[in-house]
This record gives sequence, structure tokens and C-alpha cells, in this order.
Amino acid sequence: MSLFRTKDITQLLAEKEKGHQLKKALGAFDLTMIGIGAIIGAGIFVITGVTAAKHSGPALILSFVVAGLACAFAALCYAEFAAAVPVAGSVYTYTYATLGEIVAWVIGWDLILEYLLAVSTVSVGWSGYFQKLINGFGFHIPPAFASAETGMFNLPAFLIVILVTWLLSRGIKESARINNIMVVIKVAVVLLFIAVGVWYVKPANWSPFMPFGWDGVFAGAASIFFAYIGFDSVATAAEEVRNPKRDLPLGIILSLAICTVLYIVVSALMTGIVPYPKLNDPAPISLVLQAAGQDWLAGLVSLGGILGLTTVLLVMLYGQTRVFFAMSRDGLLPEMFSNVHPKYLTPFTSTWLIGTVAAGLGGIFPLEKLAALVNMGTLAAFTLISVGVIILRSTQPNLPRPFKVPFVPVIPLLAIGFCIFLMAQLPVETWVAFLIWLVIGLTVYLVYGYRNSKLNFR
Ligand code: ALA
Repeated sequence: MSLFRTKDITQLLAEKEKGHQLKKALGAFDLTMIGIGAIIGAGIFVITGVTAAKHSGPALILSFVVAGLACAFAALCYAEFAAAVPVAGSVYTYTYATLGEIVAWVIGWDLILEYLLAVSTVSVGWSGYFQKLINGFGFHIPPAFASAETGMFNLPAFLIVILVTWLLSRGIKESARINNIMVVIKVAVVLLFIAVGVWYVKPANWSPFMPFGWDGVFAGAASIFFAYIGFDSVATAAEEVRNPKRDLPLGIILSLAICTVLYIVVSALMTGIVPYPKLNDPAPISLVLQAAGQDWLAGLVSLGGILGLTTVLLVMLYGQTRVFFAMSRDGLLPEMFSNVHPKYLTPFTSTWLIGTVAAGLGGIFPLEKLAALVNMGTLAAFTLISVGVIILRSTQPNLPRPFKVPFVPVIPLLAIGFCIFLMAQLPVETWVAFLIWLVIGLTVYLVYGYRNSKLNFR
């Protein structure tokens, strides 16, 4: 039964005050920006195109609604935990306090799929937009280093992750400032697309509305789910927030709400301007603007896409280092992952280690395969966090909860139902990869984590 031992929440909050300390520099505004920075990315800039063409058709908008509902229910559950247990490590730490160590380990292991692989996925999307832009100026990356699929290695994808790693390793407040600027640019680009695109819609393009039926809508939802991932990274910043109890729920819910509205409008316009079969392109938003004869704007969108994807890289990599930070502080991973740099006050070595691995994976794997695995890992984490909310309400009814999910257990059950349903839509090969990853994780836990857990010494 000691596999299911739990951490004591009161002790957890007290422990946070001593020992390895991170710098507290973030407020509600920064958090919402971190959220949007993580959310708007390869999902809307890259994956929408292929999803509309192959799965959803003009009903892409419905796929966005279905995936958005799953996220909305899960986000409420996240918010309750984030406000009650504002410590680094997000959902990993919450499950440690509720469902037990082995479940927490599984979640932490899952989050590697979410954050680390999302960095790799988005770096491949970044490389696509980057190359589209420099090609416009007559420059070309040698084919062997332009793509992992058609060449040997995706060099731009690799290098951008290294650059982001360098930035993060030097300090969070500086990175937050750069993040804020880039988020403003990214949202401006999306709004510009909406303002211009709305004049080019031909309603005839919306019919047939559901060319692949409901099956297509649901498969599309499982793929486009990627576009929403990231609001939870707000919670991984918990220990660097000045007033976490108020600001964390605000940051999570606001960033998700803003992005959902933008996505629904953008997807309606895209499929209204260009017939859906033509949207299968690595840079569909630029393609749509070109089709509308707005070439200069298409170029501007490519530039915005590059910056937008960079912020996603920044936040996801940040999230991954903080999850490892928490796991290491608990003894489940080696101590080097929670060592803080004396000058920069960041987990310096850990950031470089994780950044290099993510950069390498982005260099060698194609985008779609990485994205499906990211979705799987994230949906699994969302499911467990929702289970956690229900359990914690009965095991710790008196825990102060500055934010409460309404209608428990209905909302968490809806989150669980939607997430499992979306997981079931993902390809068999993704399931196989996911299960292999879990088996490796459990082995590492039994060989290392279980023996070195700090809970052995209490
Ligand atoms: N939601 C993020 C993106 O679309 C991960 O890039």
C-alpha cells in the first residue's frame, strides 16, 4: 500500500517556505499572459489546416467546441487545486497529496509527454513558418537540414529550442517580459486576421458542413485539442506568484476563455474563405490570406506565427523544468533537477538538460506523431486531476479552497467523460507509444523513485 502513500497538504505548504526557493515575481496579468503564451500556437497556426481537410471540414468549429468543453471542465478542476495547493509541479503535486505517490509519479511522467514533447512539436511548426518566411526573401535551408521527414534533421527546430533554453536559464522575470511582448503581437496578428478575413467569407464554402460526419468532428476534436493545451502551465508557476490564491484561478480561466473565443472565430473564417480540402498546408492561416489576395498580410502573419510559436516554446519548457523541480524535491528524481542557480535563481542545469533533449526530438520527429502523443499525455493528466477533485472533496472536506468547482461531482465527471472520449479517438499507434511510455515510467519509479522518495524518511 505504500505505493499509494500521500503527502500531507499542510506540511507541503509549510515545506515550500523553507529549502529551495524560487523568486516570487508574477501577478495575475503575467499569468494570463503565460497562459495565452502557451495556448495560441501550433494548434491554430498549423494543425487547423490538416484537421479541416482530413477530419472535420467546415465543422472544424464544432471540433473546437467539443475539445474546448473538455478543457473548460478540466480547467475548473485545475483552478480549484491550483488555488488550494499553490506549489510548483502543478497537477503532479496535487495528485501526490490526494491519490498517492504512484499516481503522482504516473502524472509527472505523463506531463513529460505534455510539456517536453509539446516543445518538440511546436519547434517543428516554428521551423515551417520560419522557412516559409526566409524562402520569401530568397534564402533556403539545405534540404538535408530543413526537415526530418524529407531530409535528415530539422536544424531550425533544434536551434530555436536551444535559444529558448538559454533565455529561460537566465531568469523568469526577464523571460516573462519577453513573453508579454510576444503575446501582444500574437494576439494582434490573430485579431488582424479576423478583421480582414471576415470580408472574404463565401458562405457557400460552409456546405457541406460536415463532410466526414460526426466521426470526423470527434476525430478532429481529438487532434485540435492540441490548440488548447497550455492553460494548465499557469499552475506550474505557482511558487513564483505573489498572490497565488486569487491569481492562479484567474489566470487559468481567463487565458482559456480568451483563446476559445478567438479559435472559434478563426476556424469559422478559415473554412469560410477557402474550401476545406485546400486547407491541408503547414501554414494554413497564411494560405487563407494569400487566397484572399492579401499577400502582405500573409507575410505579416508568418512573422506573427514565428513569434507566437516562440512563446509557446518558452512556457512549455518552463513548465517542464518546474514539474521536474517538484519531483526532484520529493526525491523521486535526482537532486540536480531542483538545484537553483545562485545568481539567476532558476533550475539552471535542469533547464539545459531538458532543453537539449526537447531540441533533439524536434530535430528528428515529424509534427503529427509528436502532437498525437502530446494530446494523449495531456488528456490522461486532465482525467486524473478531475478524479482528484472528487476524491479530495471527501478525504479533505475542510481544506481551505479559495476557488471551488461548481456542481461537484457533475463538472469533474463531465471532464473525465470528455477526456476519455477524446483519448479513444486517437490512433492505435499513439496508444501503443503511450502504454510503452507508461511501462518505462513505472520501471523507473520502482527502481529509483520509490527507494529515494522523501516519504521514506519521515
Ligand atoms: N496549445 C499550444 C499550441 O497550439 C500547445 O501550440
